[in-house]
Amino acid sequence: MILEGIVTTVSEQGEVNIAPMGPQVGPGMERFVLRPFRMSQTFRNLKARSEGVLHVTDDVLLLARAALGAIAPLPSLFPAKTVHGWVLQDACRYYEFQIDSLDDREERCRLEAVVRHAGRIRDFFGFNRAKHAVVEAAILATRTDFLPLDQIDTEYAKLRVLVEKTGGPQEKEAFDFLCGHLADVKRAQSAGPSLFSSSPV
Ligand SMILES: Cc1cc2nc3c(=O)[nH]c(=O)nc-3n(C[C@H](O)[C@H](O)[C@H](O)COP(=O)(O)O)c2cc1C
Repeated sequence: MILEGIVTTVSEQGEVNIAPMGPQVGPGMERFVLRPFRMSQTFRNLKARSEGVLHVTDDVLLLARAALGAIAPLPSLFPAKTVHGWVLQDACRYYEFQIDSLDDREERCRLEAVVRHAGRIRDFFGFNRAKHAVVEAAILATRTDFLPLDQIDTEYAKLRVLVEKTGGPQEKEAFDFLCGHLADVKRAQSAGPSLFSSSPV
């Protein structure tokens, strides 16, 4: 099963990177499999350092922002206990992990992770259609390089209804942020090829 989470890693230069990732997980959460693209910063960091932290969160604004690039300023973090890494202070729960097998022969790599320490910080909000709509919209926002933009527009129109009907300020801000990105991509695409790029999920 896929768990849509947020992974923090640290670059060789010591910079913290925050990115949504959907690892394949089992019920025990003792191990999981990450499938980052080779061009992602998350992959580069894990190849260099083999350690990170996977978070379960309901903060879809953070997820949307992290999907589209570096976040500045960084959200509050505290140091992980068992790995060289950082924990998002507002996550619901988290898993400090080490990579013990890495296969980067394909563009979408396969990294097997063993959990070294798990922690709980706060309750998960619960099911909410607007939060799920933002997760879907964020995934689509990372696919603008290869999905037709009018198809994304059609999906966004459906997702917007859920956000407006069932979301709070955080979900609305996250969705507006993603719509702004889509508008930027459209402008860049109509100005000429390859001015704007984002990495695919
Ligand atoms: C919910 C969600 C799940 C994602 N899962 C993955 C994934 O499993 N692998 C991947 O390479 N990108 C995934 N992405 C896309 C990355 O988050 C996105 O390309 C991001 O820019 C990568 O950041 P990085 O280059 O800092 O690692 C996902 C995005 C979202 C919104």
